[in-house]
Amino acid sequence: MSKKMCSRKSAEAIAIVLLAVVLMAAAGVQAKSKLKTCSKGWECTDSIYCCNETISDFFQVYQFENLFSKRNSPVAHAVGFWDYHSFITASTVYQPLGFGTTGGKQMGMKEVAAFLGHVGSKTSCGYGVATGGPLAWGLCYNHEMSPSQSYCKDDYLYPCSPGAEYHGRGALPVYWNYNYGLIGDGLKVDLLNHPEYLEQNATLAFQAAMWRWMNPIKKKQPSAHDVFVENWKPTKNDTLAKRLPGFGTTMNILYGDEVCGQGYVDSMNNIISHYQYYLDLMGIGRQNSGDNLDCAEQEPLNPSVQPASS
Ligand SMILES: *[C@@H]1O[C@H](CO)[C@@H](O)[C@H](O)[C@H]1NC(C)=O
Ligand SMILES: *[C@@H]1O[C@H](CO)[C@@H](O)[C@H](O)[C@H]1NC(C)=O
Ligand SMILES: *[C@@H]1O[C@H](CO)[C@@H](O)[C@H](O)[C@H]1NC(C)=O
Repeated sequence: MSKKMCSRKSAEAIAIVLLAVVLMAAAGVQAKSKLKTCSKGWECTDSIYCCNETISDFFQVYQFENLFSKRNSPVAHAVGFWDYHSFITASTVYQPLGFGTTGGKQMGMKEVAAFLGHVGSKTSCGYGVATGGPLAWGLCYNHEMSPSQSYCKDDYLYPCSPGAEYHGRGALPVYWNYNYGLIGDGLKVDLLNHPEYLEQNATLAFQAAMWRWMNPIKKKQPSAHDVFVENWKPTKNDTLAKRLPGFGTTMNILYGDEVCGQGYVDSMNNIISHYQYYLDLMGIGRQNSGDNLDCAEQEPLNPSVQPASS
């Protein structure tokens, strides 16, 4: 009798152990692929942005066509190259990191307008009397037309590849061997030996631009993304240098004193105009451009010429 009880108990014990093993295994599987089920939005794994809206929820092909309406006109210089599909494909790498998915739909739309504002301004062939206005000509180029040099500088990490030319290419044009090398490392594509990829593959060209937007120029500095979505809190030094969260500081990060700290110069105004034109076309309106729109008075985060000592 007691023997029987005993064996029944051990059978129960085994059953409990088995059940526990099964439960643990199930939990393990769940932990591995914890697909969030959302009431709406983006079902995904391993991102704090899961369940938020994605870029293609609020930015569709007709909007892309609106923003870049002249890019395939016969006088444009990259006819047939840029399209909505490559933009969206490129963005799928960065949306899990917060690109266009941070802080809700309005912030997402604003970030897309801001990013594309830089892109449009840097790839425009619009001029004062162009049909449709000067702002309708973004994505007119995918490479620099008449480079005056090959942009090769001695670099230990990223030496120039024989015969390669490192003139401007892409959506936020990349110049110089060391920049091609750095971004190539970031994207795991050999851009140092094949800089021409950026004018052959629109997805890659958008990806290179998004990589630049999402990564700081130097360690411990914020990225353009960080300052735009206000992930970043300015230090006392930043405040003294008038660098505050908003669109203005994205220009400081991407171009430094080429554009910022020079007053209300055309090079800065042109980028802002593209951003605001896109905000209007996307239905957000330029009244929602956000604080700290310009960088006219900002000190550059990374001055291009070191001030002379003493
Ligand atoms: C997700 O979107 C909501 C609003 O729709 C927003 O409040 C939240 O901050 C977003 N999540 C993240 C991580 O940005
Ligand atoms: C273009 O670049 C993307 C992103 O790096 C890559 O997945 C794709 O295979 C490339 N396409 C071609 C035709 O090389
Ligand atoms: C702040 O600026 C001063 C003067 O330019 C500099 O010496 C100091 O290192 C800066 N501090 C930080 C935290 O960047």
